[in-house]
Amino acid sequence: MAEPVLIKDLSAESGVKTRSILSWLISNGHNYTLNSVLPNELAVECMLGFSIELEVFEHQTAEEKLEEAFAARDMHDEQTRSPVVTILGHVDHGKTSLLDQIRSANVADGEAGGITQATSAFRVPLKVGDEDRVITFIDTPGHEAFTEMRARGAKVTDIVILLVAADDGVMPQTIESIAHAKAADVPIIVALNKMDKAEATDANIQRILGQLAEQGLNPVEWGGDTEVVRTSALKGEGIQDVLEIVDLQAQVLELTGDFAGPAEGTVLEAQLEEGRGAVASILIQQGKLKKGDYIVVGRGFGRVRDIVDDKGNRDNEAGPSQPVAISGINQVPDAGDRFFTVKNQREAEAAAKERVHAEREKGLVREKVTLDNILEHMAEAEKKELSLILKADVQGSVETIKAALGKMTTDDVKVVIKHAAVGGISASDVSLAEASGAIIIGFNATASGSVRKNAENSGVDIRDYSVIYNITEDIEKAIKGMLDPEHRMEVLGHAEVREVFRVSKVGMVAGCYVTSGVIERNALIRVTRDDIVIESERKLSQLKRFKDDAKAVKSGLECGMLIDGYDDIHVGDVLECYHMQEVRPE
Ligand code: GTP
Ligand code: MG
Repeated sequence: MAEPVLIKDLSAESGVKTRSILSWLISNGHNYTLNSVLPNELAVECMLGFSIELEVFEHQTAEEKLEEAFAARDMHDEQTRSPVVTILGHVDHGKTSLLDQIRSANVADGEAGGITQATSAFRVPLKVGDEDRVITFIDTPGHEAFTEMRARGAKVTDIVILLVAADDGVMPQTIESIAHAKAADVPIIVALNKMDKAEATDANIQRILGQLAEQGLNPVEWGGDTEVVRTSALKGEGIQDVLEIVDLQAQVLELTGDFAGPAEGTVLEAQLEEGRGAVASILIQQGKLKKGDYIVVGRGFGRVRDIVDDKGNRDNEAGPSQPVAISGINQVPDAGDRFFTVKNQREAEAAAKERVHAEREKGLVREKVTLDNILEHMAEAEKKELSLILKADVQGSVETIKAALGKMTTDDVKVVIKHAAVGGISASDVSLAEASGAIIIGFNATASGSVRKNAENSGVDIRDYSVIYNITEDIEKAIKGMLDPEHRMEVLGHAEVREVFRVSKVGMVAGCYVTSGVIERNALIRVTRDDIVIESERKLSQLKRFKDDAKAVKSGLECGMLIDGYDDIHVGDVLECYHMQEVRPE
């Protein structure tokens, strides 16, 4: 059989009943459902149990073959390449200002007026002693884009500059940025910005250094190994120091690339341009890209018509760590797509077509990493690590749960908390979970309908809890492979409160608009405000469509809701409808 081995296909091929296969799996300690994809080795073992010899052909897409061939490439001309840097940090801490300063320091080098940047990244020359160096900066709108790329398998950033404003200190998105950079295993350099402000006192700076140390970034001046550079993006101070520290870090990383041979790299951004067709802003990571090269870019393919560098100059070729914009491809790729140059048009087209096909298949068989199947996944990954992201209603809960989970690591399984913070479950949490194979734990914190949908599509498991003991109990059981899925909460839908009116002798009626899923009359209700749960396990005493009682109201419709024994409803609250799933383990 060819991969992936679905239980129903295995049954069809072997003539063994699906029921028999499932019961063999269960009696051997594996919990799979009919639509599960079996790991190849397990499928072989299972068939042996029925005296059938199974051979599984590993399926490789043309893209995977390319990826593999490129990964094993013979270096044609290996040389030091310049580092690729991303700036992350909390809102308003000065990311854009710092990038602008770095860029304009670059403009002073000859070009007049404001340069228009032609790619989503730019290169800055740097003189260290009498050596000429270059640093490539990626213009990201934030850590979500950073992680999104990584979730798709692209590793483009070598170094992260973390901006922390001296008047504000470490803030929620600073912590998120740190989590994202750490998950990507990228070294972090801190720029302590807004040093020109009156609030940048010694006492404040020491406090911030303490906050950084708490996040595992122990400053060099405290004997740690995180560089903290003082800057003022407003006055242009400390910029040169940042660049030099980046350069130093790059030397330590010993970054090299192949400056000849076929090119490969990653799409940073792409769009349709009038007269030029699909234009992709790409970062070359290996090899030399030349005009006229045949190229595969995600689902698209073509022949490189022109190469434009970050300053808008046309080039005939480009090499590692160089951001360029190219045209000549037949469709717009996605950010994070990989590209490869190939020998001819035929090869390019075949690889691109297969990618489209593979994506469709993958969408069908993709299996989530969930608490219920985490052991199977760990066995597959040969890595006994249970990664979690924790979001909770208040800081006290975050600390308590973190401490409790920290104690759960056993000799066999390490419990790793990738990120823990106060607040609702956001799109950023989902992309971090996807990129790091983590499970999201919401403690009295929930995810909006669109975030939940997003999690479902990207195979991320969100578990909702309101009792700490239940979290530790589930994790413990998951580690031992005996999770009892009996008490799982399943979210059915969300309704936003648009109006609240008091009906005498009845109570507060919430006029709602169902924003996702469905609200069911007999299900349970949680009241949430800014994605934090303020009341749960309530029942509805009324659900009405206009004047009529309704059993269920679907997304896109209005309804009136009366929560039994609960009156503290505000306009803007989101009512989450759920039920407790009662699935008995087989
Ligand atoms: P977002 O893109 O919204 O996340 O913000 P950002 O991190 O890009 O911050 P931005 O560069 O837009 O700066 C936010 C504000 O802080 C602006 O008003 C800047 O002028 C100001 N600012 C940035 N750096 C400095 C600095 O070093 N000193 C002072 N005093 N103000 C600064
Ligand atoms: Mg900005």
